[in-house]
Amino acid sequence: MHQLPLPPGPKKKPIIGNLFDIPLVDTAKVFAEWKSLYGDIIYLEALHQRIMVLNSFEHAHELLSKKSYSDRPVPIMLGELMGLDQSLPLLQYSAAAWKHQRKLAHLALNAGAIKGYSDLQAEAVVLFLDSLIENPSDFISQLRLATGRIVLSMTYGVPVKSPESMNFIAELEIMSTIIDKGMMPGAYLVDALPWLRYIPSWVPFNNIHAIATEGRKRILRVIELPFEYVKQQVSSPSPNISFTATCLQAEGGADMEHHIRWAAGSMYGAGSETTMGTILAFILAMALYPDIQTKIRTELDRVVGHGQLPTLDDRSRLPYVNAAIKETMRWNPVAPLGLPHFTIEEDVYQGFRVAKGTIVFPNIWAISRDNISGISPDEFAPERFLDACVQRTALDPYSYAFGFGRRKCPGKFLADNSVFLFVTGLVSTFVISPAVGSDGRHSLLRTPFRQGLARFPESFQVCILPRSEQLAAELQARAREMSKNGDECRSNL
Ligand code: HEM
Repeated sequence: MHQLPLPPGPKKKPIIGNLFDIPLVDTAKVFAEWKSLYGDIIYLEALHQRIMVLNSFEHAHELLSKKSYSDRPVPIMLGELMGLDQSLPLLQYSAAAWKHQRKLAHLALNAGAIKGYSDLQAEAVVLFLDSLIENPSDFISQLRLATGRIVLSMTYGVPVKSPESMNFIAELEIMSTIIDKGMMPGAYLVDALPWLRYIPSWVPFNNIHAIATEGRKRILRVIELPFEYVKQQVSSPSPNISFTATCLQAEGGADMEHHIRWAAGSMYGAGSETTMGTILAFILAMALYPDIQTKIRTELDRVVGHGQLPTLDDRSRLPYVNAAIKETMRWNPVAPLGLPHFTIEEDVYQGFRVAKGTIVFPNIWAISRDNISGISPDEFAPERFLDACVQRTALDPYSYAFGFGRRKCPGKFLADNSVFLFVTGLVSTFVISPAVGSDGRHSLLRTPFRQGLARFPESFQVCILPRSEQLAAELQARAREMSKNGDECRSNL
């Protein structure tokens, strides 16, 4: 097997290999461009760490789903030193803890269970829309709060509109930045040269231990704070219902408590920013493609009623909306390189050696650039998914945007419902347009994207205006009513 060639890739330099070939910005996009040079399977090495990039759906499906490369690379800094190796996304497939946590996540997030969260999702959407009436330019931080509140409320029973939710979400944001950086190959030197972790902290210029201690402290706060909140809650006379509370009441044992704590923390960590990033991509698309926004609104008005907020029951009657949601997941996928998988034994694929210990990235960005429908992949065009509009519809993003095989995202149904409720709520009640400068132009085409494992538009400006004063007043009344009910609920706790 060792005689077989490794897949093609850029020429390696001594010792560092391809370390400096790996782009830090738009990594997935650049890997996709390398298709023309090296093909659909690309091989790289960064300081002896083997990396394989799969630029097509067929290869990703074959290796990650059918051959089931289901392990994860665990970066030394993030995993061992900061302690995140106990979380569901970073546990090894063979670990008993992964099976326990995955089972718990499935219990909370399966297609049936998520129906129970539709009220809290609807509440978070109304509060978000209401916040846009007064503060439309603050839409990014309001959306962060709203998507965080959904996962927080479902996982820990923290009421959607409560001061605790703000504090927990602020902590989560800091942790997400740490994880995002730490998951990219080459992020920390200690990941490539593990012996560095044995160098004592007093050695000058060695900041490994200081970074690890700070990260570990942050991660533990995100895992512990809401968990302790639930433990206090479950002993109160009328505790809030939540995934964690239900699991704690049903199961006993210190081991199980550990699994519940990490499963809940993993869902909370993995579920908020991904949903937010997808909705931000939709908002950007609406500002750039006003005709498509109008088509979505026309369908909503016709099927659901003028300015009415759609519910999940309306979904099956909204083909254009559903195509627009698929298009959002395809146009700017929030996880363009998915989460990396890892090989724990030697393999052979298409005549190439797949070495043990290779990090395998499904390049979701490259997969999403398919040209099957004949419509340019760079364009935002829901029509590519509609039989009536094209001869061959594009590859369905639900088959790749949430990952592959046994590690496929367990939160996909919840995420999909949230995206539906937010984007339809927005278009039903508001009009989104580019914010133009004094020269009458906008700069949306140059929108910066947050880089890392999660990629989404950030710091862009759009005008978000209610469709009418009457609709704005109705939204405000609904939000006030919800706040009143929320306060009454809390005073009963
Ligand atoms: C639009 C939103 C979302 C997208 C695009 C997304 C995408 C992904 C992707 C690509 C993976 C990696 C799958 C693989 O390894 O092949 C993943 C894993 C994961 N996701 Fe999501 N996700 C989203 C929302 C959520 C939500 C709402 C939750 C939970 C509430 C969640 C929880 C998780 C967890 C726990 C994992 C790790 C699973 C494991 O390693 O076994 N995600 N997600």
